[in-house]
Amino acid sequence: MLRTAEARDRAAFVELFASAEVGTYIGGPRSRDELERAVPEVPRRRRGHFVVDLDGAMIGMVTLDRRDAERPDHVVPAAGRASLGYMFLREAWGRGYAAEACVAALGWFAGAFPDEPVVLCTQTANDRSMRLAAKLGFTEVERFEEYGAEQWLGVWSPVMGNRSPESVP
Ligand SMILES: CC(C)(COP(=O)(O)OP(=O)(O)OC[C@H]1O[C@@H](n2cnc3c(N)ncnc32)[C@H](O)[C@@H]1OP(=O)(O)O)[C@@H](O)C(=O)NCCC(=O)NCCS
Repeated sequence: MLRTAEARDRAAFVELFASAEVGTYIGGPRSRDELERAVPEVPRRRRGHFVVDLDGAMIGMVTLDRRDAERPDHVVPAAGRASLGYMFLREAWGRGYAAEACVAALGWFAGAFPDEPVVLCTQTANDRSMRLAAKLGFTEVERFEEYGAEQWLGVWSPVMGNRSPESVP
């Protein structure tokens, strides 16, 4: 289930951002002490930010954000576009939950903003993320170097990529 963040998700947020495995390709883990100080009692709620809930507990998050038009990087042509992000607790990997949640979030987006494409940026070394992007129907726009690693920029449009959860293997 996709839902907004609640107070009971706080520990899972801390775990998500403190996990070395989760952070491998996204800038590394953050210190638990710092997170305990920084994460508010009720984690911040934003439109397009979904907690992924399995049987009443948070297992990850899926986000759809507008790219920062001021961000001076390679992806400037995509500025203003919505960008998909996903992070799941390590124990939830390898079960298809991320794919199912992303399909649902993209379906919501396609309904709210018909005909608007979504971009996705991930390190090419992040095999799981690359496989997920392909499964969701993202197609390559370009590859470039940033933060000392090769990055992959893909795009998804409702027409090409809107698939039902059942169609994801
Ligand atoms: C990227 C990430 C979300 C991918 O998670 P994931 O669980 O591998 O992704 P999926 O939901 O697509 O699951 C696919 C796996 O579930 C398996 N699976 C098991 N049962 C399944 C089912 N019933 N239906 C579908 N897939 C199933 C698939 O075979 C596949 O396994 P494989 O990778 O060994 O081939 C996860 O690795 C993560 O959180 N990484 C850290 C954060 C990160 O790097 N984010 C990217 C930012 S750009």
